Amino acid sequence: MLADKDRIFTNLYGLHDWGLEGARARGAWDGTKAILEKGRDWIINEVKASGLRGRGGAGFPTGLKWSFMPKKSDGRPHYLVVNADESEPGTCKDREIMRHDPHLLVEGCLIAGFAMDAHTCFIYIRGEETALLESLEGKKGQPRLKPPFPANVGLYGCPTTVNNVESIAVVPDIVRRGAAWFAGIGRPNNTGTKLFCISGHVEKPCTVEDAMGVPLRELLDTHCGGVRGGWNNLLAVIPGGSSMPLIPARDCEHLLMDFDGTREFKSALGTAAVIVMDKSTDIIRAMARISYFYKHESCGQCTPCREGMGWMWRVLSRMAEGRAHKREIDMLMEVTTQIEGHTICAFGEGAAWPVQGLIRHFRHEIERRIDDYSANPHPEPVRVAAE
Ligand SMILES: Cc1cc2nc3c(=O)[nH]c(=O)nc-3n(C[C@H](O)[C@H](O)[C@H](O)COP(=O)(O)O)c2cc1C
Ligand code: SF4
Repeated sequence: MLADKDRIFTNLYGLHDWGLEGARARGAWDGTKAILEKGRDWIINEVKASGLRGRGGAGFPTGLKWSFMPKKSDGRPHYLVVNADESEPGTCKDREIMRHDPHLLVEGCLIAGFAMDAHTCFIYIRGEETALLESLEGKKGQPRLKPPFPANVGLYGCPTTVNNVESIAVVPDIVRRGAAWFAGIGRPNNTGTKLFCISGHVEKPCTVEDAMGVPLRELLDTHCGGVRGGWNNLLAVIPGGSSMPLIPARDCEHLLMDFDGTREFKSALGTAAVIVMDKSTDIIRAMARISYFYKHESCGQCTPCREGMGWMWRVLSRMAEGRAHKREIDMLMEVTTQIEGHTICAFGEGAAWPVQGLIRHFRHEIERRIDDYSANPHPEPVRVAAE
């Protein structure tokens, strides 16, 4: 469990003054000038050495990302864009930073912006990395093809780095307390503290800071009063927001909440938005509802995403009632693999993975429902979500 002395987000719940004086009393803006005087390379190297990986979902090493920016401006301005969108369902951490401890973010923007020679920093509430840039330019918020990558051709065609709010807000503490301090929390490749947003069937849903690699069970028992009805009532969790494959209860016992721990069970940490589902959950309907979200959010540029999302939602809605053929389960799996990796942005994976997780772990439940329906067909379809 995270020691209080290692906490970065000391006003996460807004119990204290969020303004400048309060923030300074908690340690913000302490020696910032001296930090900047150590130079751009020192800051980037320190962030690299800390092992910080992006908190926006993909877990890309933050210091490495910064080092992709040109060392010197070729005349074009450089931009730092902070992604404050929280478009990943289940994610509700960045809003707590912005409303209760905004100086962590503002100081982080200054230090990160200085390290990348940024002329301007935008904190922007809009989904997805390149769609965010399009929208910021005043166009329709549709993702761009990569390459070119934003580090060379980003906002207004200029070198740009996009980072998540939490990634930037932890930077002042890293450079102030030292890379070794941050790297000493968690385990190699999975370092530092992390905000976990826990929702669903726990006694007390919350957003909380803990060490990377905290066991899931400890996280839920310590901060959330445990699973509703007790640990044995757990059906599954989605560990990192709705885009990540679910992990069934039998694997949750040994699940460590970090990048490698979740990967061990064929899922991912994503934004660390932990969605807990107890045994009262209709897991097929839950996944159908998630599919509806992706259908609704698709921007429509890529055929596999535009057509596939609605198709998956319709099939899953029928499967939730059992009105399907068993051969459609493999067909559904096949469609997810045709979407995955064949789209402009990672939204395709985000929609495919939860369906894959369902089939991987709950195929028996889909089959049982199809058997039940075949034995007792009923004509009235039940809608999972309204069009
Ligand atoms: C479907 C989808 C949802 C995303 N949602 C968020 C989000 O809510 N917040 C965020 O910062 N990044 C989100 N991302 C990731 C961003 O595209 C981008 O990679 C991230 O902001 C980079 O910051 P980081 O390296 O600090 O994590 C999302 C990506 C996808 C494909
Ligand atoms: S994957 Fe979907 S959301 Fe992303 S660009 Fe293609 S159509 Fe748009």
